[in-house]
Amino acid sequence: MPECHSTNSIASELSQMTDCAEGTVVITDNQTAGRGQKGSLWMTSPGQNLTFSVVLKPSFLMPKDQFLLSMAISLGVMDYLKSELGSKQVKVKWPNDVLVESKKISGVLIENHIQGNSFDSSIVGIGLNVNQTTFGDITATSLRLEGGCEYNLPLSFTNLLSKLESRYLHLKKGKVDMLRMEYIDALFGVNEGRFFWTGNTRFEGVITGVDDFGCLKVDSALEQKKFSAKEIRV
Ligand code: BTN
Repeated sequence: MPECHSTNSIASELSQMTDCAEGTVVITDNQTAGRGQKGSLWMTSPGQNLTFSVVLKPSFLMPKDQFLLSMAISLGVMDYLKSELGSKQVKVKWPNDVLVESKKISGVLIENHIQGNSFDSSIVGIGLNVNQTTFGDITATSLRLEGGCEYNLPLSFTNLLSKLESRYLHLKKGKVDMLRMEYIDALFGVNEGRFFWTGNTRFEGVITGVDDFGCLKVDSALEQKKFSAKEIRV
Protein backbone atom coordinates (compact mmCIF):
# COMPACT_ATOMS: atom_id res chain seq x y z
CA MET A 1 0.00 0.00 0.00
CA PRO A 2 1.28 3.52 -0.71
CA GLU A 3 0.94 4.73 2.89
CA CYS A 4 0.02 3.31 6.28
CA HIS A 5 0.68 3.93 9.97
CA SER A 6 2.50 0.66 10.80
CA THR A 7 2.76 -2.49 8.70
CA ASN A 8 3.13 -4.49 11.93
CA SER A 9 -0.19 -3.18 13.23
CA ILE A 10 -1.96 -3.97 9.96
CA ALA A 11 -0.38 -7.42 9.66
CA SER A 12 -1.34 -8.10 13.26
CA GLU A 13 -5.01 -7.28 12.55
CA LEU A 14 -4.93 -9.41 9.39
CA SER A 15 -3.40 -12.34 11.24
CA GLN A 16 -6.45 -12.52 13.48
CA MET A 17 -8.74 -13.15 10.51
CA THR A 18 -9.50 -16.82 9.92
CA ASP A 19 -8.45 -16.81 6.25
CA CYS A 20 -5.06 -15.12 6.75
CA ALA A 21 -2.45 -17.41 5.18
CA GLU A 22 1.06 -17.87 6.51
CA GLY A 23 3.43 -15.73 4.44
CA THR A 24 0.98 -12.83 4.03
CA VAL A 25 3.05 -9.65 3.58
CA VAL A 26 2.09 -6.04 4.27
CA ILE A 27 4.48 -3.58 2.65
CA THR A 28 4.31 0.19 2.30
CA ASP A 29 6.22 3.02 0.61
CA ASN A 30 5.42 5.44 3.38
CA GLN A 31 5.08 4.27 6.95
CA THR A 32 3.90 7.19 9.06
CA ALA A 33 4.00 5.70 12.57
CA GLY A 34 6.53 2.85 12.38
CA ARG A 35 7.11 1.12 15.68
CA GLY A 36 10.48 -0.04 16.97
CA GLN A 37 11.69 -2.06 19.91
CA LYS A 38 11.08 -0.95 23.50
CA GLY A 39 8.40 1.55 22.40
CA SER A 40 10.73 3.49 20.09
CA LEU A 41 9.72 4.91 16.71
CA TRP A 42 11.03 3.73 13.35
CA MET A 43 11.30 6.71 11.05
CA THR A 44 12.16 6.31 7.41
CA SER A 45 12.08 8.45 4.25
CA PRO A 46 9.10 7.65 1.96
CA GLY A 47 9.84 5.55 -1.13
CA GLN A 48 13.51 4.92 -0.33
CA ASN A 49 13.58 1.93 1.96
CA LEU A 50 11.91 -1.39 2.71
CA THR A 51 9.29 -1.36 5.46
CA PHE A 52 7.21 -4.51 5.64
CA SER A 53 5.76 -7.19 7.88
CA VAL A 54 5.27 -10.90 7.30
CA VAL A 55 2.67 -13.04 9.03
CA LEU A 56 4.17 -16.36 10.13
CA LYS A 57 2.49 -19.28 11.86
CA PRO A 58 5.32 -21.13 13.59
CA SER A 59 3.03 -23.67 15.27
CA PHE A 60 6.01 -26.09 15.33
CA LEU A 61 7.77 -23.84 17.84
CA MET A 62 7.14 -23.82 21.60
CA PRO A 63 6.55 -20.28 22.91
CA LYS A 64 9.57 -20.69 25.22
CA ASP A 65 11.74 -21.08 22.12
CA GLN A 66 10.57 -17.86 20.46
CA PHE A 67 14.04 -16.34 20.38
CA LEU A 68 14.99 -18.99 17.81
CA LEU A 69 12.65 -17.25 15.38
CA SER A 70 14.34 -13.95 16.13
CA MET A 71 17.74 -15.54 15.42
CA ALA A 72 16.52 -17.03 12.14
CA ILE A 73 15.13 -13.68 10.97
CA SER A 74 18.30 -11.75 11.88
CA LEU A 75 20.36 -14.33 10.01
CA GLY A 76 18.07 -14.03 6.96
CA VAL A 77 18.56 -10.26 6.88
CA MET A 78 22.32 -10.75 7.28
CA ASP A 79 22.42 -13.36 4.50
CA TYR A 80 20.79 -10.87 2.16
CA LEU A 81 23.16 -8.04 3.12
CA LYS A 82 26.20 -10.30 2.71
CA SER A 83 24.97 -11.30 -0.74
CA GLU A 84 24.83 -7.62 -1.73
CA LEU A 85 27.83 -6.27 0.16
CA GLY A 86 30.35 -9.12 -0.06
CA SER A 87 33.41 -7.79 1.70
CA LYS A 88 31.68 -5.56 4.29
CA GLN A 89 31.36 -6.60 7.92
CA VAL A 90 27.76 -7.59 8.70
CA LYS A 91 26.88 -8.22 12.36
CA VAL A 92 23.84 -8.56 14.60
CA LYS A 93 23.59 -6.34 17.63
CA TRP A 94 21.61 -8.23 20.24
CA PRO A 95 18.76 -8.83 20.15
CA ASN A 96 18.20 -8.20 16.44
CA ASP A 97 19.56 -4.95 15.04
CA VAL A 98 21.59 -5.62 11.94
CA LEU A 99 24.78 -3.57 11.50
CA VAL A 100 27.08 -3.04 8.54
CA GLU A 101 30.54 -1.76 9.45
CA SER A 102 29.15 -1.09 12.99
CA LYS A 103 26.29 1.13 11.73
CA LYS A 104 22.64 0.15 11.94
CA ILE A 105 21.09 -0.74 8.59
CA SER A 106 18.07 -2.75 9.67
CA GLY A 107 15.69 -3.12 12.60
CA VAL A 108 13.41 -6.03 13.33
CA LEU A 109 10.26 -5.97 15.46
CA ILE A 110 8.73 -9.39 16.10
CA GLU A 111 5.36 -9.49 17.81
CA ASN A 112 4.04 -12.90 18.80
CA HIS A 113 0.46 -13.96 19.34
CA ILE A 114 0.58 -16.87 21.74
CA GLN A 115 -2.44 -18.87 22.87
CA GLY A 116 -1.96 -21.06 25.90
CA ASN A 117 1.18 -23.00 25.20
CA SER A 118 1.25 -22.67 21.44
CA PHE A 119 2.01 -20.13 18.76
CA ASP A 120 -0.97 -18.63 17.00
CA SER A 121 0.99 -16.27 14.75
CA SER A 122 4.08 -14.15 14.67
CA ILE A 123 4.34 -10.75 13.00
CA VAL A 124 7.84 -10.19 11.68
CA GLY A 125 8.34 -6.49 10.92
CA ILE A 126 11.48 -5.43 9.10
CA GLY A 127 12.82 -2.01 8.27
CA LEU A 128 15.83 -2.00 5.95
CA ASN A 129 17.58 1.18 4.85
CA VAL A 130 18.06 0.83 1.11
CA ASN A 131 18.46 4.09 -0.83
CA GLN A 132 18.33 6.67 1.97
CA THR A 133 21.64 8.54 2.29
CA THR A 134 21.12 10.94 5.20
CA PHE A 135 20.08 10.02 8.72
CA GLY A 136 20.45 13.25 10.71
CA ASP A 137 22.27 12.65 14.00
CA ILE A 138 21.70 8.92 14.00
CA THR A 139 24.60 6.57 13.30
CA ALA A 140 22.98 4.57 10.54
CA THR A 141 23.74 3.39 7.07
CA SER A 142 22.01 2.01 3.99
CA LEU A 143 22.68 -0.38 1.14
CA ARG A 144 23.30 2.57 -1.11
CA LEU A 145 25.85 4.14 1.22
CA GLU A 146 27.68 0.85 1.65
CA GLY A 147 27.31 -0.52 -1.88
CA GLY A 148 27.85 2.77 -3.69
CA CYS A 149 24.90 2.42 -6.07
CA GLU A 150 21.15 2.83 -6.12
CA TYR A 151 19.17 -0.37 -5.45
CA ASN A 152 15.99 -1.53 -7.14
CA LEU A 153 13.51 -1.77 -4.25
CA PRO A 154 11.23 -4.54 -5.64
CA LEU A 155 14.28 -6.67 -6.48
CA SER A 156 15.84 -6.10 -3.04
CA PHE A 157 12.52 -7.07 -1.47
CA THR A 158 12.26 -10.34 -3.45
CA ASN A 159 15.85 -11.31 -2.69
CA LEU A 160 15.49 -10.48 1.00
CA LEU A 161 12.26 -12.50 1.25
CA SER A 162 13.95 -15.52 -0.26
CA LYS A 163 16.80 -15.37 2.30
CA LEU A 164 14.25 -15.03 5.11
CA GLU A 165 12.28 -17.98 3.81
CA SER A 166 15.33 -20.16 3.65
CA ARG A 167 16.26 -19.37 7.29
CA TYR A 168 12.65 -19.94 8.37
CA LEU A 169 12.81 -23.36 6.71
CA HIS A 170 16.02 -24.15 8.61
CA LEU A 171 14.11 -23.42 11.79
CA LYS A 172 11.12 -25.48 10.69
CA LYS A 173 13.42 -28.42 9.89
CA GLY A 174 14.89 -28.21 13.40
CA LYS A 175 18.37 -26.98 12.44
CA VAL A 176 18.46 -25.02 15.67
CA ASP A 177 22.04 -25.77 16.71
CA MET A 178 23.24 -24.36 13.41
CA LEU A 179 21.10 -21.22 13.75
CA ARG A 180 22.27 -20.71 17.33
CA MET A 181 25.91 -21.14 16.39
CA GLU A 182 25.74 -18.79 13.41
CA TYR A 183 23.87 -16.17 15.43
CA ILE A 184 26.43 -16.18 18.27
CA ASP A 185 29.20 -16.09 15.69
CA ALA A 186 27.67 -12.97 14.11
CA LEU A 187 27.03 -11.22 17.43
CA PHE A 188 28.43 -7.71 17.56
CA GLY A 189 30.90 -7.26 20.42
CA VAL A 190 31.06 -10.90 21.46
CA ASN A 191 34.10 -11.66 23.65
CA GLU A 192 35.04 -7.96 23.73
CA GLY A 193 35.07 -5.79 26.85
CA ARG A 194 32.52 -2.94 26.83
CA PHE A 195 30.24 -0.90 29.05
CA PHE A 196 26.62 -1.76 29.83
CA TRP A 197 23.79 0.05 31.55
CA THR A 198 21.17 -1.54 33.76
CA GLY A 199 18.86 1.24 34.94
CA ASN A 200 21.25 3.96 36.10
CA THR A 201 24.14 1.62 36.81
CA ARG A 202 27.04 1.31 34.43
CA PHE A 203 29.33 -1.70 34.53
CA GLU A 204 32.04 -3.22 32.42
CA GLY A 205 31.71 -6.72 31.08
CA VAL A 206 32.18 -9.10 28.22
CA ILE A 207 29.33 -10.56 26.13
CA THR A 208 29.79 -14.32 26.09
CA GLY A 209 26.64 -15.35 24.24
CA VAL A 210 22.87 -15.64 24.42
CA ASP A 211 20.91 -18.28 26.32
CA ASP A 212 17.96 -20.32 25.00
CA PHE A 213 15.49 -17.65 26.08
CA GLY A 214 17.33 -14.90 24.22
CA CYS A 215 18.89 -13.36 27.34
CA LEU A 216 22.30 -11.80 26.85
CA LYS A 217 25.08 -13.50 28.84
CA VAL A 218 27.60 -11.04 30.22
CA ASP A 219 30.67 -11.79 32.35
CA SER A 220 31.75 -8.98 34.66
CA ALA A 221 34.71 -8.97 37.07
CA LEU A 222 32.45 -10.21 39.85
CA GLU A 223 29.96 -12.58 38.29
CA GLN A 224 28.28 -13.99 35.24
CA LYS A 225 24.90 -12.38 34.56
CA LYS A 226 21.99 -12.78 32.16
CA PHE A 227 19.82 -9.93 30.96
CA SER A 228 16.59 -9.65 29.00
CA ALA A 229 16.35 -6.90 26.36
CA LYS A 230 14.34 -4.73 28.77
CA GLU A 231 16.99 -4.89 31.48
CA ILE A 232 20.16 -3.82 29.74
CA ARG A 233 21.52 -1.30 27.24
CA VAL A 234 24.69 -2.17 25.37
C1 BTN B 1 13.92 -1.40 15.89
O1 BTN B 1 15.05 -1.34 15.43
O2 BTN B 1 13.61 -0.83 16.95
C2 BTN B 1 12.89 -2.20 15.14
C3 BTN B 1 12.32 -1.43 14.01
C4 BTN B 1 11.31 -2.21 13.21
C5 BTN B 1 10.69 -1.38 12.12
C6 BTN B 1 9.80 -2.16 11.21
S1 BTN B 1 9.40 -1.26 9.75
C7 BTN B 1 8.17 -2.39 9.34
C8 BTN B 1 7.50 -2.84 10.63
N1 BTN B 1 6.38 -1.99 10.98
C9 BTN B 1 6.58 -1.33 12.12
O3 BTN B 1 5.79 -0.53 12.64
N2 BTN B 1 7.80 -1.63 12.61
C10 BTN B 1 8.48 -2.62 11.79
